[in-house]
Amino acid sequence: MILPLKLEGVSFLDIIRPLSLEIGAGPSTIILGANGAGKSVLMRLMHGLLAPTTGALRWQGGEPGRRQAMVFQKPVMLRRSALDNIRYAVRLAGARDGDALAAAALDEVGLRHVAHRPARVLSGGEQQRLALARAWALHPEILFLDEPTASLDPSATREIEAVIRAFDTSGTKIVMATHNLGQARRLGDEVIYLHQGRVLERAPAEEFFVRPASAEAAAFIKGELPWV
Ligand SMILES: Nc1ncnc2c1ncn2[C@@H]1O[C@H](COP(=O)(O)OP(=O)(O)O)[C@@H](O)[C@H]1O
Ligand SMILES: [Mg+2]
Repeated sequence: MILPLKLEGVSFLDIIRPLSLEIGAGPSTIILGANGAGKSVLMRLMHGLLAPTTGALRWQGGEPGRRQAMVFQKPVMLRRSALDNIRYAVRLAGARDGDALAAAALDEVGLRHVAHRPARVLSGGEQQRLALARAWALHPEILFLDEPTASLDPSATREIEAVIRAFDTSGTKIVMATHNLGQARRLGDEVIYLHQGRVLERAPAEEFFVRPASAEAAAFIKGELPWV
């Protein structure tokens, strides 16, 4: 187990104020906040794509390597078939049985029928499911998702959410950034509310939505715009 992940006094410029957090295995964690709150920067810090300005991140179980994966808002696909996009990623990771893992992952997101189509001609929703399959193929212990449905229509969003729920059920820790309240309610077990680079609260989802502890979160839930 690489989890829990501990952030100790982690900051990034003036965008993420020094914060300490522990992300453990188990129920899903939603990073919720308005546009510009710092969700993407926080996700990138946790995934190791950005180095903190101060503080440190520690994975309890040592170097996470391929046991963590991340999916971004806009998937980036290679000029290859859908299946080959996943094969390429698992081979890069040095996985034995890469082809079997790739095919299984494609199946799990319901894309077997487009396996040999060029990835770049797939619809936005299909590309995002492919990105999920690619991140999923090696069964990471933790999966970071940064607004994975932000550019998708409601029907594609529902399909992506079903895939995320299946990953969650299978035991992978889900950490997802979203500004979408409905999605946070549908997928979140706990909510970390981020406002101007600060964690204002962290609470079980039912509690957060019924009784937010901060005025900023209450305003956000009411649909006001707390970025002033
Ligand atoms: N690598 C970076 N270096 C400096 N500033 C950044 C970087 N990435 C994002 N920002 C800035 O940090 C702020 C928060 O951005 P972001 O984390 O993308 O917010 P959110 O994902 O919550 O909408 C924005 O003002 C953005 O311009
Ligand atoms: Mg973002």
